Amino acid sequence: MVSPPVLLFIVLCSCYYIAHGGDEHGFSVTLEPRRATVSVPLVHRHGSRAPSQNPDKPSFTERLRRNRARANYIMSRASHGMASTRGDDANVSIPTHLGGSVDSLEYVVTVGLGTPAVPQVLLMDTGSDVSWVQCAPCNSTQCYPQKDPLFDPSKSSTYAPIACDTGTCRKLGDHYQNGCTDGGAHCGYAVEYGDGSKTRGVYSNETLTLAPGVTVKDFHFGCGHDQRGDNDKYDGLVGLGGAPESLVVQTSSLYGGAFSYCLPAQNSKAGFLALGAPSANATGFVFTPMRHLPDVATFYMVTLTGISVGGKQLDVPPSAFRGGMIIDSGTVVTGLPHTAYNALQAAFRKAMAAYPLLPNGDLDTCYNLTGYSNVTVPKVAFTFSGGATIDLDVPNGILLEDCLAFHESGPDVGLGIIGNVNQRTLEVLYDAGRGKVGFRSGAC
Ligand SMILES: *[C@@H]1O[C@H](CO)[C@@H](O)[C@H](O)[C@H]1NC(C)=O
Ligand SMILES: *[C@@H]1O[C@H](CO)[C@@H](O)[C@H](O)[C@H]1NC(C)=O
Ligand SMILES: *[C@@H]1O[C@H](CO)[C@@H](O)[C@H](O)[C@H]1NC(C)=O
Ligand SMILES: *[C@@H]1O[C@H](CO)[C@@H](O)[C@H](O)[C@H]1NC(C)=O
Ligand SMILES: *[C@@H]1O[C@H](CO)[C@@H](O)[C@H](O)[C@H]1NC(C)=O
Ligand SMILES: *[C@@H]1O[C@H](CO)[C@@H](O)[C@H](O)[C@H]1NC(C)=O
Repeated sequence: MVSPPVLLFIVLCSCYYIAHGGDEHGFSVTLEPRRATVSVPLVHRHGSRAPSQNPDKPSFTERLRRNRARANYIMSRASHGMASTRGDDANVSIPTHLGGSVDSLEYVVTVGLGTPAVPQVLLMDTGSDVSWVQCAPCNSTQCYPQKDPLFDPSKSSTYAPIACDTGTCRKLGDHYQNGCTDGGAHCGYAVEYGDGSKTRGVYSNETLTLAPGVTVKDFHFGCGHDQRGDNDKYDGLVGLGGAPESLVVQTSSLYGGAFSYCLPAQNSKAGFLALGAPSANATGFVFTPMRHLPDVATFYMVTLTGISVGGKQLDVPPSAFRGGMIIDSGTVVTGLPHTAYNALQAAFRKAMAAYPLLPNGDLDTCYNLTGYSNVTVPKVAFTFSGGATIDLDVPNGILLEDCLAFHESGPDVGLGIIGNVNQRTLEVLYDAGRGKVGFRSGAC
């Protein structure tokens, strides 16, 4: 298990290598077995440690509605691929629904942008790729209110808009509405998310500071001048998907295309987001192969093979999971295919038979635990292809507001989604460089 002093040591190491190595070198190769990593604190957007306290916290019902919308969006994008987001007629502008619902995103990180570095609080999203912040100048019609001052590119010595005549802009234009087509000199971008919120502005080049002394030069992000949607006062979003525009892919020469995070057990606690992977045989991790859907590089997929409740394996054949599971930071509740969901629900209800069930809208297995001082929640464990098995945190990785944090995603042939409640306290390592996902228990 990596204790905090070790993490700090690794952070200092990466400063050293970045300072002396330069951008062109593949640190991830030369640094084996202790590869470059950098870690930033992560908090829940509505927790007591959130940098911006929005008095209008969404209700449980509203969170579940947002969760459902995000899950539906991911499912539809995953099942249709990118094709459905582009028109057959190249002359028609079709909204590029290339981000999941952002209003369900729940975790934020603070990074520094520009020179001198200005702190920016960003929603963390494994379900989209382009990172963006709201940029000055921008009036109240075009930028939603945020707590920090708007990022002002004119005050940064390292800011530069990306020119139209660059490969970066041409590649972006394929999916994100290259603004150069309307005669502009600077590369335009636009992202419309599944919940209808959107951002539009100038695709830009800037220095990103991940931790004191740990910088990413030439980081490409959207300087947003026109946003819609209530983003809860946060300054922007950091995209961690698997497509070229994401922070993870942009920094793959530094960090090997790997990142990990740990979501805390409770919203009042902090976790972390780290770029880079621990050494190949880092203790405490179990690994399973990672894949992507054809034509959708953004999402990360794993294959479940079994689930146990209270130590007893559910009677679900591995074929019931054949559609695969997307693992996502922004979906809250896990969606399991029909057979697996029904088996889990039955076993869980049986183990919790001492407590009264309570109807609660979107989720069908909620309890009234008022008056019980000693509630015994059964262990739930996932087994993935290759045999990796993880125990979900009891109870914070299983229950959300006293409800089983699962619902049925659809038929057995379809996709499922592993939501963020199940991921709490685990370090989840997305190691695209090695084609695997790792899990480490008790990481935060
Ligand atoms: C786009 O518009 C041009 C001019 O109006 C037309 O010649 C061309 O066929 C159109 N392209 C498509 C794919 O419809
Ligand atoms: C905000 O800026 C836009 C574009 O410059 C302009 O069209 C709009 O009228 C402005 N709104 C306000 C309230 O100033
Ligand atoms: C971003 O800035 C760096 C450093 O100034 C430059 O080398 C690079 O070409 C720029 N990238 C783009 C796409 O403009
Ligand atoms: C970890 O891997 C390195 C390099 O392959 C090896 O030298 C070392 O013995 C391994 N450590 C353990 C505990 O397996
Ligand atoms: C939950 O249980 C308590 C104690 O038995 C009871 O007073 C309360 O009405 C119940 N709440 C609901 C919503 O049923
Ligand atoms: C709580 O319940 C468990 C299992 O029934 C039992 O072993 C334990 O002694 C109980 N603890 C208290 C404080 O009642």
